[in-house]
Amino acid sequence: MIESADNPFVGLDQLFSSVVLLDAGLAIRYMNPAAEHLLAVSGKTVRGSRLDSVAGCPVTLMEALTNALAHGWNYSEPDTEIRRNDGEALHLHCSVNPVDAGEVRLLVEFWSIDPQVLRATREERLLELQMAGRELIRNLAHEIKNPLGGIRGAAQLLERELSNPALHEYTQVIIKEADRLQELMKRLLSTHRPMQPGAVNIHEILERVRSLLVAEFSGSLAIRRDYDTSLPELVGDREQLIQATLNVARNAAQAIMRRTDDEAPGQIIFRTRVARQVTLVKRRFPLVLELRIIDNGPGIPGDIRERMFYPLVSGREGGNGLGLTLAQSFILQHQGTIECQSRPGHTCFILRLPLGLGDGKSTI
Ligand SMILES: Nc1ncnc2c1ncn2[C@@H]1O[C@H](COP(=O)(O)OP(=O)(O)OP(=O)(O)O)[C@@H](O)[C@H]1O
Ligand SMILES: [Mg+2]
Repeated sequence: MIESADNPFVGLDQLFSSVVLLDAGLAIRYMNPAAEHLLAVSGKTVRGSRLDSVAGCPVTLMEALTNALAHGWNYSEPDTEIRRNDGEALHLHCSVNPVDAGEVRLLVEFWSIDPQVLRATREERLLELQMAGRELIRNLAHEIKNPLGGIRGAAQLLERELSNPALHEYTQVIIKEADRLQELMKRLLSTHRPMQPGAVNIHEILERVRSLLVAEFSGSLAIRRDYDTSLPELVGDREQLIQATLNVARNAAQAIMRRTDDEAPGQIIFRTRVARQVTLVKRRFPLVLELRIIDNGPGIPGDIRERMFYPLVSGREGGNGLGLTLAQSFILQHQGTIECQSRPGHTCFILRLPLGLGDGKSTI
């Protein structure tokens, strides 16, 4: 480090990363120009102020600072949210290192994160969380499924023994509810089936989904096709892809049916395109199919938007909240992703599926 009489930390001035030096009271002793720019403050003005009074710091960072002082522990966190005093939230890679340079005791360094890497990190964390939840539910489903057969069988035997037919109403409730639960458990466990990959034409799948929906909603549905017919075939499990697409498109159809009469006519669009050099769950693929399923319904209810891919989360009466969970599981098995953008009058689910093998390069 080059030192000068009036600024002993002049060497740090040249760094691209943002450096803040703190004393034992977590007060700022120095910040380099990159840090001044990042936090939109003047180093001279904030000298002597505590770091957390100059910018909003998460509890984890404050604990890391205390631990670094007390125990000499280093700390590194790839996604720290720092809130500038002008209200802007910054997502930064942050590291804390104990130092022994007179009154300076801690060196805190921040780097800006590439938005693509940030998105990939977030996706990965979200997926881990969802996977853990799904595992729990799957185990629970197994536990519920087994005794259901016994309950149903016992109710049937009981029914035969009941001489008073009026009492059959009660055994029928048990049998019907057991059947309903059995069906639910079957759906919950359906992602367990191993994939049966083969060459698949996405437009053939979409046409099948379209005819299923037209039959289900008895012609009251306008589905527009906007296909890129030059798309190559993809390798996938036909049944899983039909199920995933149908679940997303059926939600769109159901949403459209909830509209009031005075709104513009309901419409769903199936759009296929090819995209190049796309990162899907940490792997980069040269060629990716982008399938957009767009509807002009009321949009995803705000209170479930963040959780709609979780199992048993539903925003509609009679919904099981499994359609999107299963769709996401099937698409993930194909190394693809599902994303959703929604506002009233425009909801778009984007399903991305690799059209070839990835280069195996991780983006993180
Ligand atoms: N295109 C859409 N427009 C508006 N809301 C939607 C749309 N797609 C999904 N949703 C909301 O997300 C919720 C979850 O969907 P999901 O398919 O997982 O479960 P469900 O439709 O409630 O039940 P299931 O599909 O298991 O019968 C829906 O209940 C609905 O509120
Ligand atoms: Mg659904």
